[in-house]
Amino acid sequence: MLAPGRYSATCEASPNIALVKYWGQRIPEYNVPYNSSLSLTLDGLATRTRVAFDPDLPADTLELNGTPVDGGPREDVSRFLDLFRERIRRPWHAEVVSRNNFPTASGMASSASGFAALAGAAMGALGLHWGPRNLSRYARRGSGSAARSIYGGFVLWRAGHRWDGTDSYAVPFRGPEHWPEFRDIACLVDAAPVKSVRSQEAMQRSVATSPVFERRQNQLRRRLMRMRSAIDRRDAGSLFPLIMEECDSFREVCETTDPPLDYLTAASRAILDEVRSINRDEGRPVAAYTHDAGAHVHVFTTAPHAPALARRLGALPGVRETRILRPGPGVRWIRPAGSKDPTVKLWGR
Ligand code: PMV
Repeated sequence: MLAPGRYSATCEASPNIALVKYWGQRIPEYNVPYNSSLSLTLDGLATRTRVAFDPDLPADTLELNGTPVDGGPREDVSRFLDLFRERIRRPWHAEVVSRNNFPTASGMASSASGFAALAGAAMGALGLHWGPRNLSRYARRGSGSAARSIYGGFVLWRAGHRWDGTDSYAVPFRGPEHWPEFRDIACLVDAAPVKSVRSQEAMQRSVATSPVFERRQNQLRRRLMRMRSAIDRRDAGSLFPLIMEECDSFREVCETTDPPLDYLTAASRAILDEVRSINRDEGRPVAAYTHDAGAHVHVFTTAPHAPALARRLGALPGVRETRILRPGPGVRWIRPAGSKDPTVKLWGR
């Protein structure tokens, strides 16, 4: 039984980058996808969010990267917290303070780490004893890809079949320790356009208008199976071409959407070309590009190739910064300052 008071918790989550993309919703109201997707949670990038429910607060408040936020993002957070209020049957509002250590809304999946951290903090604050599957299900309601950031390493989000989406949640596939030499070179490009259409709306536009959406759906089951097997064997030579094939297929759907969705800048396209030419020069796939609904590009490779590749990609015009990232952890809860071990890691390491 919850007595009135201040219920707070802090949770940290890392973004994930999709190897098989989620693009299209079978049940838009609940962010339930058409297809299962596969991702890698990244180390070194994180959203840290503190949620404090307080019966005396007149409304929810949101502070993002040190600035109070009103309007759209705060309404998204409020709508998401409504799910928790319904669950505990209390109308309590909350103070939410969130900070990213990477650019917000620019293809770096801040919505994934954002809603995973928010879900974890709200769960912790209210003392709800959920397992990771249920937390993933809740995170999904904030932003589909957040369902995957609950876990570390390679993560599978099962699309599910039920009419109400209750069997749509992520499960860990292989933890971050499975392939420690795996690297993601995050290439941040200049003048990344701010996302003008929210991805949830954009993807439904693709479902409705792209003539290749259905063909892509028919290819995905087999592509996902082959990727899982390549990851299992730590076989970069098989995995990298599949990652690029998948990225190209996602981009084709975006470009054939009416009106077209073009997320890339000239610098992003130069990175894709450079990766193709590096693989050609090497005579084998040593790297793979991918991107989400934004202009930044992620280039996967293995540890021995990463420093030279990052230098080469970083020298391209319009590339502002490259960061070499490793497979990262799932959500973790942070104890208040002053306690002996401030980080409590529960799942997915
Ligand atoms: O979770 P959302 O609504 O931000 O959608 C994410 C969509 C992509 O990032 C493009 C693909 C994915 O699977 O992460």
